[in-house]
Amino acid sequence: MLKEVIATRYITPLREGGSLPGLIEADDLGMYVLKFTGAGQGRKTLVAEVVCGELARRLGLRVPRLVTVTLDEVLGLGEPDEQVQELLRASGGTNLGMDFLSGALGFDPLAFPVDAEEAGRIVWFDALVNNVDRSWRNPNLLRWRGELWLVDHGATLIWHHNWPGADTSARRPYDASDHALASFGPDVTAAAEQLAPLVTEELLAEVTAEIPDVWLAGEPGFDTPDDLRRAYARPLLARAAVVHERIQGLKGAV
Ligand SMILES: Nc1ncnc2c1ncn2[C@@H]1O[C@H](COP(=O)(O)OP(=O)(O)OP(=O)(O)O)[C@@H](O)[C@H]1O
Ligand SMILES: [Mg+2]
Repeated sequence: MLKEVIATRYITPLREGGSLPGLIEADDLGMYVLKFTGAGQGRKTLVAEVVCGELARRLGLRVPRLVTVTLDEVLGLGEPDEQVQELLRASGGTNLGMDFLSGALGFDPLAFPVDAEEAGRIVWFDALVNNVDRSWRNPNLLRWRGELWLVDHGATLIWHHNWPGADTSARRPYDASDHALASFGPDVTAAAEQLAPLVTEELLAEVTAEIPDVWLAGEPGFDTPDDLRRAYARPLLARAAVVHERIQGLKGAV
């Protein structure tokens, strides 16, 4: 289970984020980037963050630690900004938090070279989860203490928006031509050899167990949160073995 903290103070919105994530302080005195359950993108964005973040971490990629953040909507009462006030009011209960990497810089491909192995592992992972939100325009990669960190996995797992078509959707190729790391010669074949065998049913069960029940309950077509957890695992298990052959748009690749 993800660590649970209670929000004690809303500090400021992170203006760059489309979903208006906020910076908060919690009862453990930590500072967290908060992704609101009441944001327009809905709770599936938060589920995608948990599945991808916890999977990436287990594959050895760097992702800020995730926590659940309990929010009392009265925290919004003192907020002068109406949009923020509304978000806080709509997000009482369980939200997603991640460790705030203080002083992190946005990734700049011209200023920070990435080796082909690391680029390969990240592109392969993004192909696995069908991440369409790591382009050179919006890399969602941070440089912190000299290393590359992955953030923002809300726009992944496109198949969870239409479960009856999930298996078909998960067989589609991944277009990496716009990927932020495409120019570093990502070695996706080496990445697949190293990472695909790690993506087992057991690992995916462990990853999906981290999703809070409240974000899974009531999904049409599923009786229990655990049924839905299995539905999250299945396309990833099938895709892991073959996805490196379905990555399109990399120079030198077919
Ligand atoms: N853990 C973190 N530590 C420090 N900065 C962060 C962290 N997470 C996100 N940020 C910063 O906040 C920005 C917005 O976060 P994120 O991309 O997750 O939000 P979003 O609303 O999904 O964004 P968008 O849809 O615009 O890409 C990031 O681009 C990054 O600059
Ligand atoms: Mg982003």
